[in-house]
Amino acid sequence: MTSSTQTTERSEANETQIAVHWQEEEYIQPPQSFVEQAIMDDPDIRKRFSEENFPDCFREYADMLTWFEPYDTVLDSSKPPFWKWFTGGKLNACYNCVDRHLEQYRNKAAMIFVPEDEGNPPYAVTYQELYVRVNEMAALLRDYCGVKAGDRVTLHLPMTLDLPITMLACARLGAIHSQVFGGFSGQSCGSRMEDSSSSILITADAYWRSGKLLDHKQKADVAVKTAEEAGQHVDKVLVWQRYPGEYSSPKPMVEGRDVFVNEVLKEYAGARIDAVSMDAEDPLFLMYSSGTTGKPKGCQHRTGGYLAYVAGTSKYIQDIHATDTYWCMADIGWITGHSYIVYGPLAVAATSVVYEGTPTYPDVRRPWRIAERLGVNIFHTSPTAVRALRRAGPDVPIHCNQQFKHMTTVGEPIEPSAWHWYFDQIGKGEAVICDTWWQTENGGFLCSTIPALDAMKPGSAGPALPGIYPIIYDDDGNEVPRGSGRAGNMCIRNPWPGIMQTIWGDDQRFIDTYYKRFCKNPDSKDWRDWPYMSGDGAMDADDGYYRILGRIDDVINVSGHRLGTKELENACLTVAEVAEAAVVPVNDEVKGKVPEVYVSVPTGTKDTAAVADKVIKACEDIIGKIARPARVHVVPDMPKTRSGKIMRRVLASISNGRDTGDVTTLANSEVVEEIQQQVQGR
Ligand code: WTA
Repeated sequence: MTSSTQTTERSEANETQIAVHWQEEEYIQPPQSFVEQAIMDDPDIRKRFSEENFPDCFREYADMLTWFEPYDTVLDSSKPPFWKWFTGGKLNACYNCVDRHLEQYRNKAAMIFVPEDEGNPPYAVTYQELYVRVNEMAALLRDYCGVKAGDRVTLHLPMTLDLPITMLACARLGAIHSQVFGGFSGQSCGSRMEDSSSSILITADAYWRSGKLLDHKQKADVAVKTAEEAGQHVDKVLVWQRYPGEYSSPKPMVEGRDVFVNEVLKEYAGARIDAVSMDAEDPLFLMYSSGTTGKPKGCQHRTGGYLAYVAGTSKYIQDIHATDTYWCMADIGWITGHSYIVYGPLAVAATSVVYEGTPTYPDVRRPWRIAERLGVNIFHTSPTAVRALRRAGPDVPIHCNQQFKHMTTVGEPIEPSAWHWYFDQIGKGEAVICDTWWQTENGGFLCSTIPALDAMKPGSAGPALPGIYPIIYDDDGNEVPRGSGRAGNMCIRNPWPGIMQTIWGDDQRFIDTYYKRFCKNPDSKDWRDWPYMSGDGAMDADDGYYRILGRIDDVINVSGHRLGTKELENACLTVAEVAEAAVVPVNDEVKGKVPEVYVSVPTGTKDTAAVADKVIKACEDIIGKIARPARVHVVPDMPKTRSGKIMRRVLASISNGRDTGDVTTLANSEVVEEIQQQVQGR
């Protein structure tokens, strides 16, 4: 990736500035049938988790886990902002998600895999079977690959059970897994391998998506090349076959480097590996996420605090009982899948559904057929999926046979009309909805209603979770008071067990990104001086319900997935003809926001359509298909300030069909009209 030397006026075009501001809505009470069976029905819970009981209140979550050795301190805050949780405690995440359930739930389904192809029926893996497979995979990793505690192992796996099995096998050994979303490009995967110094790549040959068996192995070859070019040697590429015994990719296996996992696994049949006793503070995994600069950051999550937090929130917020069938339709390659398909649900002995494919394949009734067939009663999805399903068949779900008690939404703001459709059509008025706000960095939910205790308010994420104390600051660091009707920077005053430990290999960036701006005293050892800055804009209504408006920084939230504008701009700049690039968020009916790209080319460039095609290809190759720009505008010049900064705000206004405001102070105001005509046809 080339690094750009252009200067742009950052924070000139962010999501909150173009957010849709909808009206305050009425409260809706949770259905009585839900309330009667809810796990968290104690109205005193927020008192129990109030500041006077912090941090001890979080023992309640830690005590949901099985510890090999008990912790002695709940929170060690002696080195802000590098908090330590449950220090002295020893545990193993895999043991907590698998082994400890055997006694009671040995033959209960732990996970149910639903292939995209409906001709292939779903199949369940019991806790016993999960135990067997995870042990065998752990044996392979340890004895065939030499993986040991603390090593980083990169996974680039699609949505099959091979993914959670591999994650849990790593956790069993104390190795740090770093799963890269399967839809990301080989280059993205390779650069993450390099960043985490990972010499092993675990991938798959192919997977189904929208009716096509996609070749995935080709990305592994690109990933290895990228990593090696960046100086990271790759020892082994382990390839899971989508159909064991059959190779579904046209790409040759590389002698001495590539092996089929399912073949080597035969040597480890029946192997049992002790779950390694890990320190509560040992890292469990890395999850790369886009930020304000070009390079994605490896969010490093700890074992004890993270697992306690996702177990606690799976139980209290998602109301997962061991008898429930729970389906989160996200991809395990994102934090939502890590926390709320794998670790949280398995820690509380749920049955968790893993669906391989697209929700609307082969038709819009597919999710409801799956739900009916498996008896899913807790459903978790994103506003984008809700909007897409609504658009494709607005009166379909009410006539299908899904029956949910609880539904979650996550990833972006959900507008009240989509919320009501979700509630009426998919939930049939019988399911409670939790609009959960949080981020990759956070481990688990930060804002949501407690489903049986709080009324729902469409369009608002809800109050803070127990033990989470938010605060909103204006740009000068003054508190924006509750009920003031003003928006500001959403921050959390206190540490919590799910917060990431640091950015892998870059403590300074961790401080700079999340803590520097609103830190009250950099020398202080008191957590009260170290609020966490989320990067989102929010408003706190007088009832304490938070409305999240979107990103304040240079991140665009596309279908609930984060894309760094800088990352995209850097990808555009790899195209030889592109002189300058600017990416802006644009409102989209289904995806929430989409990126539009402006590139300037040297005068006389004739084939601008070809440049646009190259820009699209560069974004897809370097980042992945999800980064495909909605439109590329090839322009003669960028609107700039007199000091030469690109005015992204002006471009965003043009793309969103809004007034550009006063542009007379620009160095080249005439170009604005030209671009406007080109883009809006006026
Ligand atoms: C946005 C996903 C409004 C937000 C778990 C945040 C939301 C970013 C919500 C994190 C919500 C997430 N309402 N906005 N309920 N949930 N967001 O890291 O802008 O992929 O900063 O984590 O998604 O995205 P990430």
